[in-house]
Amino acid sequence: MQQYEQLLKSNKDWAERMVQQDPMFFENLVDVQRPAFLWIGCADSRVPPNEITGTRPGDIFIHRNVANLVIHTDMNMLSVLQYAVEVLEVKHVIVCGHYGCGGVKAAMSRHSFGLINKWLRHIKDVYRLHVDELASIESDEARLNRLIEINIMEQVNNLADTSIIQRAWKARNAPHLHGWVYDLHNGIINPLIEIPANSKLEHEIYEYDDLDVQH
Ligand code: CO
Repeated sequence: MQQYEQLLKSNKDWAERMVQQDPMFFENLVDVQRPAFLWIGCADSRVPPNEITGTRPGDIFIHRNVANLVIHTDMNMLSVLQYAVEVLEVKHVIVCGHYGCGGVKAAMSRHSFGLINKWLRHIKDVYRLHVDELASIESDEARLNRLIEINIMEQVNNLADTSIIQRAWKARNAPHLHGWVYDLHNGIINPLIEIPANSKLEHEIYEYDDLDVQH
């Protein structure tokens, strides 16, 4: 059997098991999705959101990219965010990164990786913003892991700085924003930062005072 055929076979087995547990499982999900969470995570194959949180189809709306970045000109991420916040009305947005992130590691090096340099550049900017703290860490691994944590917290702040989030905060006092880091060594997620709805922004230059203007 080809490697990819195994996926299709496993899928059939899984669907059968789900129906055995709950005959209406798929039928109940056909017409509507009401996830309470939007997850913005790293594309890394070792950090599958549903599996590591014990959640099921229908529970989490998911966007993943290299190093879980929230970039204000990324139409893909912004479209997911707008839909999740304004249509699905999620209660929480979670940015989940992970220690040992290859994207952050690549951004910390001076090696050129081709096209992805453009993406990693955003992480280099995060490094520059926190260079005093990071440069004082002697161990390469500890410095990488600290940049991974700082990067997650920066991305959560990037969410708070969007008009999409600020408009939702005014309209319905949600969603709450969270930054989490996953440990590949033990499978545990640790919370790093939480920004409840309607918190004061870290930098007021990002605060819009005329949110009735559309996006
Ligand atoms: Co990663």
